Amino acid sequence: MKILSVVGARPQFVKLAAIADAAAQREDVEHVIVHTGQHYDAAMSDVFFADLRIPAPDVNLAVGSGSHGRQTGAMLAGMDEVLEEHRPDWTLVYGDTNSTLAGTLSAVKMHLQVAHLEAGLRSFNRRMPEEHNRVLTDHAADLLLAPTEVAREHLAAEGLAERTVVTGDVMTDVCLRVADSVKDTPVALPEGIDPASPYAVATIHRADNTDDPARLAAIVAALQGLEIPLALFAHPRLVAKAKDAGIELAGGAVHVGEPVAYPELVGAVQHAAAVVTDSGGLQKEAYLLGTPCTTVRSETEWVETLEGGWNRLALGPADLTAAVARPRPTASRPPHYGDGRAAERSVDALVEHA
Ligand code: UD1
Repeated sequence: MKILSVVGARPQFVKLAAIADAAAQREDVEHVIVHTGQHYDAAMSDVFFADLRIPAPDVNLAVGSGSHGRQTGAMLAGMDEVLEEHRPDWTLVYGDTNSTLAGTLSAVKMHLQVAHLEAGLRSFNRRMPEEHNRVLTDHAADLLLAPTEVAREHLAAEGLAERTVVTGDVMTDVCLRVADSVKDTPVALPEGIDPASPYAVATIHRADNTDDPARLAAIVAALQGLEIPLALFAHPRLVAKAKDAGIELAGGAVHVGEPVAYPELVGAVQHAAAVVTDSGGLQKEAYLLGTPCTTVRSETEWVETLEGGWNRLALGPADLTAAVARPRPTASRPPHYGDGRAAERSVDALVEHA
């Protein structure tokens, strides 16, 4: 059986690592990897393949950055030929990016079966491009691999129960494995932060936070005013938007670093006193690793992380300061995201439903 994975953005490489491993365990599965090229910087792409020991992509469409329409359109144009050549039993798409939607549309139009990994997540925020990408993908796909019971409920409410299988979350597979492998490795933080004293880790990249200069300035000011030093691993979009708006990211508590490789990120979060982010994956990683998280958004898809106060939503910069200063939660962290074997279950489901 042939699975063709379509990936393009950083969080998808992490999910792919788990699936590539699980596929390699089975002799009856051939796995083809297509990289759309949505993320192309070494720090945003290559290091993930190297560190997580993912086989090199069989195809790279090298589409690069652009407006949503241009970027997605370039992927669609590239995918036809690739699918024609490989004719996979399953086209496997991941998460909620433009690469997910493009892979899905190309395959369904060619009457090829599509499976969506991380199906059923909803923010119910229609301003987010990711929300449209996931809803459209779920409705077009033939098999929905849902990470949680909440995701299953969302799919059922949209009439998609029959196509759904709950597998657990594949990012959890990778996070737990990597956390164990780096627990004794010294933490790499931007200059000026002492890893032996309390520090926070932050990432900010969503359009809603970066593209309005006034909002971005207020978020940066709040981060700079925090009481403990903060390692800001800056996504290229954040760096570009801050530069355009004349906002200096470094200053006060904020120490700026490049985006880091996955094991370094996990290591930094594991030993941090707090996380501040607008990333989906990082909210969950903080939960799994037992580090309190503050999410700079008005909602989250990973609602389980809010239980017991491990994650808190900060709608505005003022809430951010109070949220980061809250006492460390004492509640337990139930294993909502599975047991670390979601990828194996996902590949089994693909074989069963082929
Ligand atoms: C994308 C996903 C988002 C995901 C994120 C993870 C969509 C709609 N969004 O957002 O869901 O959380 O990836 O990082 O697909 N850039 C570079 N080098 C790179 C990649 C990007 O310089 O390697 C810059 C470009 O200026 C680009 C901007 O970052 O215009 C945004 O990149 P893009 O891939 O469009 O979206 P992300 O913000 O990364």
